[in-house]
Amino acid sequence: MFRNRDVLSILDFEKEELEKLFSITRLMENVAICGTNILEGKILGELFFEPSTRTRLSFQSAMYRLGGSVISLSNILASSIAKGENLADTIRMMEAYSDLIVIRHKIEGAAKLAAEISNIPIINAGDGTQHHPTQAMIDLYTIKKYRGKINGLNIGILGDLKYGRAATSFIYGLTLYNPNKIYLISPESLKPRERVLKILDQKKIEYGLHNDVKDVIDKIDVLYVTRIQKERFPHPAEYEAVKGSYRIDLKILENAKKDLMIMHPLPRIDEISLEVDKTPYAYYFKQASLGVPLRMALISLILGVVK
Ligand code: NCD
Repeated sequence: MFRNRDVLSILDFEKEELEKLFSITRLMENVAICGTNILEGKILGELFFEPSTRTRLSFQSAMYRLGGSVISLSNILASSIAKGENLADTIRMMEAYSDLIVIRHKIEGAAKLAAEISNIPIINAGDGTQHHPTQAMIDLYTIKKYRGKINGLNIGILGDLKYGRAATSFIYGLTLYNPNKIYLISPESLKPRERVLKILDQKKIEYGLHNDVKDVIDKIDVLYVTRIQKERFPHPAEYEAVKGSYRIDLKILENAKKDLMIMHPLPRIDEISLEVDKTPYAYYFKQASLGVPLRMALISLILGVVK
């Protein structure tokens, strides 16, 4: 199911495949504590053309905890890219040096291009505004781990639903399940793209479009908050118009369900007030820590050391 597979979009997966991944992730949560050497001699090649903290470090941590190694092209200025090397040549080089490539790029389709060029598996660590499949896997796993299910829940997704690939991939991931309803909450100019809404329609998932989280907070079981993706706006004025337009604080949470889960792919700017971190609603740091066992499970399945 996973052996030698490219991971380009969460939409390429079936629910049963994710359930398999999650069952291995559960095991890896324990393995991560003591480590193992099942990937001894294997090398993960990282090509990060955009900034990253959690994604890159948790892939590295996952690889080291499995006994493997990581080589990285993250400082673009210190590499041949700065001399004008094209992406295809860089991918061919990394293919020769490693067993698996993890790539992040600002252009949508970069991971697909890499998969067409390379004979070793490619994992998309985020390209453009649509796809970040391993983040969606972590997000779905976090909900399953702490709520036991995704089906039947009311899920709110707040923030930049136009440029945010974590939010979009999470929406796509939810279409593999049967949530009761998805509340898509954003400033008017950052609504999800038509193609995203079309997929929700095709999969017959009920959703609503909202501008203010206050209107729906009392209905939501899981609230997925995202930052405004400033770097993807074509015009600074467009960003200035929406900057700081939503913020989750204790006041808003007065109307929340007692067992509301607040998630966030991170990094956070100002959209969740720091005072929320101490409340039982805050799941975003737990969510980030699950990136390691989930990526351990995914790499092990793709490289065929776990079946
Ligand atoms: C996200 C990304 O790069 O898309 N970060 C992540 O991987 N956790 C979200 C973001 O940058 O806002």
